[in-house]
Amino acid sequence: MFGVTLTVAVIGLSLTLQVAAALKALLLTRVTGWRLAWVAIAVALLLMAGRRSITLFRHLSDSTAFPADLTAESVALVISALMLLGVVLVGEIFRQVNRAEDALRRSETNLQLQIAELQETRRRLEDQKTSLGLVAGQLQVARDQAEAANRAKSEFLANMSHELRTPLNAIIGFSELMKDRDRIPPESGRYQDYAQGIYESGRHLLDVINDILDLSKVEAGSAELRDEPIDVAGAVSAAVVLVQQRAAAGQIAIEVSLANHLPALKADPCKVRQILVNLLTNAVKFTVPGGRIVVRALCSPQQGFVLQVEDNGIGIAGADIPVALSQFGQVSSSMNRKHQGTGLGLPLSMSLAELHGGTLSLESEVGKGTCVTVRFPGSRILWPSQQSDHARPSTSCA
Ligand SMILES: Nc1ncnc2c1ncn2[C@@H]1O[C@H](COP(=O)(O)OP(=O)(O)OP(=O)(O)O)[C@@H](O)[C@H]1O
Ligand SMILES: [Mg+2]
Repeated sequence: MFGVTLTVAVIGLSLTLQVAAALKALLLTRVTGWRLAWVAIAVALLLMAGRRSITLFRHLSDSTAFPADLTAESVALVISALMLLGVVLVGEIFRQVNRAEDALRRSETNLQLQIAELQETRRRLEDQKTSLGLVAGQLQVARDQAEAANRAKSEFLANMSHELRTPLNAIIGFSELMKDRDRIPPESGRYQDYAQGIYESGRHLLDVINDILDLSKVEAGSAELRDEPIDVAGAVSAAVVLVQQRAAAGQIAIEVSLANHLPALKADPCKVRQILVNLLTNAVKFTVPGGRIVVRALCSPQQGFVLQVEDNGIGIAGADIPVALSQFGQVSSSMNRKHQGTGLGLPLSMSLAELHGGTLSLESEVGKGTCVTVRFPGSRILWPSQQSDHARPSTSCA
């Protein structure tokens, strides 16, 4: 009787273990993904459990029909227990592997985030490096400009003191001679020459100071424009009259060529006259006897109002044009030594043209001549329809 009970218990336990192992194997399909293999194992286990339950059923219903072999059933029990253990262990291993994979994935994601952050930081550092480079470049430009301004100021002061000292020395020298009556008696008649020297040096000094003041005013932005309608033909002939005597003395002809029906120009008459006189004085100074000067005025909506002074004098080499246009810049020539000058006429005229929103350009060739063009913007042309009847264009600078 004990043998029967033990056999039934062994078969029942082995049956339970096989069913449990089959269920566990089915559950593993979710964990490992090897569906077909685990289903096959589960089916095999269930078949074994089926066979075990048939044996058990037959044994219970007729204990004499199939005397169960206790040893064989015990071996089957041990195998079932081992199979369940195996399935559980495999399940556990796969769970661990899955957990490790999850952890790996998480750390990979973290790593990617850190890489992205590092790349962002690197990009920001590179941006900062670029902007620091830009700031350094701007600082360098500002420093260069400050140094250039400082150099220009020193050059300006050196030139200015030279220009002021020369006529002042002449005035002091002549007046000392006039003061010392013992050395040169008044009746010698040389006092007239000394007085003339003092007068010319004084006038030159005044011209230089006026030019410097005008130029500084324009550069400081404090020069004012007193715009009026100007009759350009009148303004040109007034300027020509001023240099006519000097031109005649140098046997230089001045020709005026104005476009027909020139409209009035809206500009500051004194400043326009100053430009014209400066350009005409240069043309007369730097043209040899027998030469010719042409003053032109023309105007169109596209070109604006154009004033031009052309001569066939000594000309300027291309490389020297920037020098001629710079403050105190004088191109060395025998003519420069013959004539007085400070080197302010052209830069001042250019600043005055720019003050009107215009331009001054110079074309020249050594031995052929020079042509200076002053261009006023089209907005300064007063077409007849824009002029009021009572506003008569002025011809002179009050
Ligand atoms: N028409 C010209 N032909 C040849 N050289 C010229 C002419 N105009 C100007 N220059 C050259 O350019 C230099 C500068 O001219 P700018 O009018 O500025 O000064 P300047 O005539 O020497 O002196 P300032 O006009 O101050 O009395 C002149 O010294 C001269 O060398
Ligand atoms: Mg000049």
